[in-house]
Amino acid sequence: MAELGLLLFSLSILFSTSLCCPDDQKLALLHFKSSLLDSINSSTQYSLSSLDSWDASSDCCHWDMVTCSSRSNSRKVVALHLYSLVLAEQPIPFPSMVLSPLSLIKSLMLLDISSNYIVGEIPPGVFSNLSKLVHLDMMQNNFSGSIPPQIFHLRHLQYLDMSSNLLKGVISKEVGSLLNLRVLRLDDNSLGGYIPEEIGNLTKLQQLNLRSNNFFGMIPSSVLFLKELETLELRDNSLSMEIPKDIGDLTNLTTLALSGNRLTGGITSSIQKLHKLETLRLENNLLSGGIPTWLFDIKSLKDLFLGGNNLTWNNTVNLEPKCMLAQLSLSSCRLAGRIPDWISAQKDLLFLDLSKNKLEGPFPEWVAEMDIGSIFLSDNNLTGSLPPRLFRSESLSVLALSRNSFSGELPSNIGDAIKVMILMFSGNNFSGQIPKSISKIYRLLLLDLSGNRFSGNIPDFRPNALLAYIDFSYNEFSGEIPVIFSQETRILSLGKNMFSGKLPSNLTDLNNLEHLDLHDNRIAGELPMSLSQMSTLQVLNLRNNTLEGSIPSTITNLTNLRILDVSNNNLSGEIPAKLGNLVGMIDTPNTFKSVSDMFTFPIEFSDLIVNWKKSKQGLSSHSLEIYSLLDLSKNQLSGQLPASLGHLKGLKLLNISNNHLSGNIPATFGNLESLESLDLSRNRLSGSIPRTLSKLQELTTLDVSNNKLVGQIPVGGQMDTMDDPNSYANNSGLCGFQIQLPCTPEQPQVKQPEADDSWFSWQGAGIGYSVGFFATITIILVSGCISRLPPQNRHRSHRRQRF
Ligand SMILES: *[C@@H]1O[C@H](CO)[C@@H](O)[C@H](O)[C@H]1NC(C)=O
Ligand SMILES: *[C@@H]1O[C@H](CO)[C@@H](O)[C@H](O)[C@H]1NC(C)=O
Ligand SMILES: *[C@@H]1O[C@H](CO)[C@@H](O)[C@H](O)[C@H]1NC(C)=O
Ligand SMILES: *[C@@H]1O[C@H](CO)[C@@H](O)[C@H](O)[C@H]1NC(C)=O
Ligand SMILES: *[C@@H]1O[C@H](CO)[C@@H](O)[C@H](O)[C@H]1NC(C)=O
Ligand SMILES: *[C@@H]1O[C@H](CO)[C@@H](O)[C@H](O)[C@H]1NC(C)=O
Ligand SMILES: *[C@@H]1O[C@H](CO)[C@@H](O)[C@H](O)[C@H]1NC(C)=O
Ligand SMILES: *[C@@H]1O[C@H](CO)[C@@H](O)[C@H](O)[C@H]1NC(C)=O
Ligand SMILES: *[C@@H]1O[C@H](CO)[C@@H](O)[C@H](O)[C@H]1NC(C)=O
Ligand SMILES: *[C@@H]1O[C@H](CO)[C@@H](O)[C@H](O)[C@H]1NC(C)=O
Ligand SMILES: *[C@@H]1O[C@H](CO)[C@@H](O)[C@H](O)[C@H]1NC(C)=O
Ligand SMILES: *[C@@H]1O[C@H](CO)[C@@H](O)[C@H](O)[C@H]1NC(C)=O
Repeated sequence: MAELGLLLFSLSILFSTSLCCPDDQKLALLHFKSSLLDSINSSTQYSLSSLDSWDASSDCCHWDMVTCSSRSNSRKVVALHLYSLVLAEQPIPFPSMVLSPLSLIKSLMLLDISSNYIVGEIPPGVFSNLSKLVHLDMMQNNFSGSIPPQIFHLRHLQYLDMSSNLLKGVISKEVGSLLNLRVLRLDDNSLGGYIPEEIGNLTKLQQLNLRSNNFFGMIPSSVLFLKELETLELRDNSLSMEIPKDIGDLTNLTTLALSGNRLTGGITSSIQKLHKLETLRLENNLLSGGIPTWLFDIKSLKDLFLGGNNLTWNNTVNLEPKCMLAQLSLSSCRLAGRIPDWISAQKDLLFLDLSKNKLEGPFPEWVAEMDIGSIFLSDNNLTGSLPPRLFRSESLSVLALSRNSFSGELPSNIGDAIKVMILMFSGNNFSGQIPKSISKIYRLLLLDLSGNRFSGNIPDFRPNALLAYIDFSYNEFSGEIPVIFSQETRILSLGKNMFSGKLPSNLTDLNNLEHLDLHDNRIAGELPMSLSQMSTLQVLNLRNNTLEGSIPSTITNLTNLRILDVSNNNLSGEIPAKLGNLVGMIDTPNTFKSVSDMFTFPIEFSDLIVNWKKSKQGLSSHSLEIYSLLDLSKNQLSGQLPASLGHLKGLKLLNISNNHLSGNIPATFGNLESLESLDLSRNRLSGSIPRTLSKLQELTTLDVSNNKLVGQIPVGGQMDTMDDPNSYANNSGLCGFQIQLPCTPEQPQVKQPEADDSWFSWQGAGIGYSVGFFATITIILVSGCISRLPPQNRHRSHRRQRF
């Protein structure tokens, strides 16, 4: 027995040596592994366990992610499945040169290096010897530059996925001059380019995916040579011109996805020749013309997305579809009248988007009975109440009905729809209480009831719920502020209701809260100390309540706070000097993810309403991250303006009007380099307006009226455009060309403190004053002498009217 075992053992050694992968291939792979490891910063935490089995003493054909050919006695590496190699908290950017060793594995037929965050241009040499490649997946890296021509020589290639990179096409000299590019910077990834015509050389291609890159220009006509093509996926680039007229010649196409580009023209009729077509995605382009009815005769069609174009639906046509759709988007296609009832025959429908049309009439019972998973009917004129049947659905997960004319109470069985994740009812005429059963929907993530006539108290939600986005604003809710929401809550908007009582101290239990909006309620009492524990807060809006007491200086603990509005309350005491430490208002961190970024389908979340330059404006939830505001107006604040406020360089709006503040305007306000609107009116400020304000290049609105200011209004920069006399009215002797009141020698000459010494010693959250600060002071001093220069920024006063 022992001998037999020995024999078998030695046989197996013989066997495996003869079936080992070639040494050069093994070395190349080890080289690849070591260059990967070498490029990871030693201080980074990561795991590369997928390559643990790659060690020099074993046969590389037995390594994980490596496949060798099975034939003959000389085995060779034919496939490398090197996707998502590294696990790390932050993506680790690998330089693209790590790929170089792979060029030696000429036998390679499949190479998958997707999801590795490799950065830089694709090294051209890598593919010149890999002529056997059939399958190449480079998806989700950060490859930049253009596709190297060597890839177009891979004659056997059937599968090419380069989606989700920063690739661009080639730019010819002619195009360069058309675009007026004097300097062509090849490393500039924001610049796109054409998809190379050579793509047409890859005549074996079945799958081509260039989604989410920077390609522009027309779809190359050479794609029509790719007769074997089954998937043509070019979504989310900047492609323009028309869909190729003869696209219908690619008769094997099952997926044609061109959405998210700038394609024009109509839906070409050759598409009807694509009798295997299952997915047609043309949404979010600039297509125009009628929606052809023959689309619905393509029997194989399952997913049809046409929304977000300038297409027109023929509302008189009586459709009898031959297809059985799973997904249908006809958003903004000018559908009018009732919801078309041919849809009722689409028994497999999972996703229905008919938003942004002119649909009217009630929510049809038959739609409720179809058990559709996602229903988007926002921005129509639908009326009546919701059928209870809708919520007896096992499938319903998204229901978006915002901005219609629905009315009545929500069905009490709403909680039967336990799979629902998103409910959007904003801007209708719903009334009554929120049905108690809603707390049964344990998967609920987003609940938007804003802009209705809901009333009463808010029911309990399960504390372990996932509910992250809550908007109950603009209703008639009453009672105390409910703190019954989930620990996961990120956005809580309860503004414009009739909530009363104090700010609950256990708000701090919501330890993921980023956005708290309680404006226009009847909340009383002091700002609780505990508020400063909510370190995740980015937006705090308490405008127009009856809060009293002083602003706690511990509020500077809120290091992420970018928008603070406590205007129109009864706050008193001094403005804490430490407010200048609010780091979120210094370098506005770009961490804010708008709600719409979190979902792959259209979510229109309500704007944040603020007082912006004298009028109420909505800041779009899509771009909230660019705003930083501090509004303390309409309170009883007294004492001096702290010079440290000048440190809040990220602020776009500073409103301290309608208080009892006295003393000088700090010269440091000239450092508020992002400031567009400064309102100090209706206080008791004295002294002169600091000359440093002429440094505020973005300033478009200034109000210092109703104070005790004297002396010359600063000149230069934007100050030359601040010439509305109302902004200076009711002071104690201001002069200047802005108010057409020349300064006379008798005018009190107030000696201007250039900078308040106190703020040099002020402890600024570890942010040092750079040489730049002293340089700017010097520049002001110099520019003060030449301040009669024509204003350079006059045009700025008309910018940013829209949000
Ligand atoms: C490694 O990371 C540390 C801290 O993140 C950084 O200071 C250092 O420059 C990095 N080194 C390299 C080589 O990238
Ligand atoms: C990849 O590119 C994106 C977009 O430019 C960038 O935000 C991201 O940080 C890059 N990732 C790496 C790992 O370089
Ligand atoms: C391609 O293979 C040849 C020899 O077979 C070799 O000399 C050359 O260096 C290889 N090219 C690259 C880019 O690896
Ligand atoms: C593409 O094919 C044409 C002929 O069909 C040939 O002239 C050209 O060199 C090829 N280009 C590439 C990059 O393979
Ligand atoms: C299309 O697909 C069929 C079946 O999958 C295949 O036989 C044929 O070669 C493909 N190419 C063309 C051009 O039809
Ligand atoms: C949309 O198409 C109509 C004609 O159907 C045209 O009058 C209109 O200008 C187009 N709108 C846009 C934004 O292209
Ligand atoms: C709309 O459809 C009706 C009925 O099929 C047809 O008579 C009419 O010509 C169509 N209108 C347009 C603009 O295509
Ligand atoms: C919505 O429909 C109602 C009647 O159902 C009508 O009075 C109203 O004008 C319509 N609104 C819009 C914006 O079309
Ligand atoms: C909302 O419904 C009430 C009745 O419940 C009605 O009086 C009111 O006119 C409706 N408002 C709108 C805008 O339709
Ligand atoms: C906050 O306190 C109230 C009672 O004062 C309680 O009902 C509620 O569950 C608490 N909320 C949280 C999130 O702990
Ligand atoms: C403050 O809120 C009350 C009650 O909601 C409202 O009536 C009033 O108009 C609001 N004031 C301002 C200035 O918005
Ligand atoms: C400030 O934040 C720290 C930690 O972030 C916390 O320990 C401390 O209690 C906070 N201070 C106040 C007054 O909330």
